Amino acid sequence: MAAAGKSVPRHIAIIMDGNGRWAKGRGLPRIKGHEEGARAARECVEGCAELKVDFLTLYAFSAENWQRPKAEVFALMKLLEKFLKEKTPELIEKNVRLQAIGRLTDLPDSCQEQLHRSIEATAGNTGVTLVLALSYGGRLEIIDGIKSLLHAIEVGHIDKGMIDVEMFSKHLYTRYYPDPDLLIRTSGEMRLSNFLLWQTSYTEMYVTPKLWPDFTRKDLAAAVEEYGRRQRRYGKSE
Ligand code: FPP
Repeated sequence: MAAAGKSVPRHIAIIMDGNGRWAKGRGLPRIKGHEEGARAARECVEGCAELKVDFLTLYAFSAENWQRPKAEVFALMKLLEKFLKEKTPELIEKNVRLQAIGRLTDLPDSCQEQLHRSIEATAGNTGVTLVLALSYGGRLEIIDGIKSLLHAIEVGHIDKGMIDVEMFSKHLYTRYYPDPDLLIRTSGEMRLSNFLLWQTSYTEMYVTPKLWPDFTRKDLAAAVEEYGRRQRRYGKSE
């Protein structure tokens, strides 16, 4: 669990943007950018372990990303599967617990199988929880949450008068995790891009011009330091 220091975010969420531009700038195919992006993701998990962050959520594949060229989608799925297969022993060694959110049944079968194997293999770990957002969309998550609530009402588990913010949160993919304290976005874009729309209501945002493959653990530490200087008021006065 996180150290006593107030300034360490308990949950960091990251929009890993700029893989394509990183590759283009070097005259390389886009997939090379994604490969370097996977390497940066690995470094970031290690960085979170060092900083004693409890939860790290990475936006690895959005629901909208299916609209990219078929070859890029295929390559990203293969990369994800390979990453999980190769890195699971390391996740175990580093005490990282892997989880995933999103419409996971949209993923290719072999990818889903590897994902579930890795999740199971790391289920008992007690260090950083790494949450991969896959085929994830914030609006879709809210729709799925509403459907789940309606079902709970239909079967008599709850009454509609009982619905409040806390209860709705319990019907989202993220019900097991605290809301992110810090949201990092690389490559300078000032957008949420349909990521954790409900959960980021009071999240501190940190945008860096660095492209994701260039984002190092030093950059992560700088973001955490900046977070430590912020004053969070949750809509209240000082
Ligand atoms: C955005 O860059 C990144 C993605 C769409 C995918 C993120 C995937 C990875 C970092 C690699 C796989 C991750 C794991 C955890 C195995 P972009 O392609 O939109 O970049 P651009 O905006 O410069 O084109």
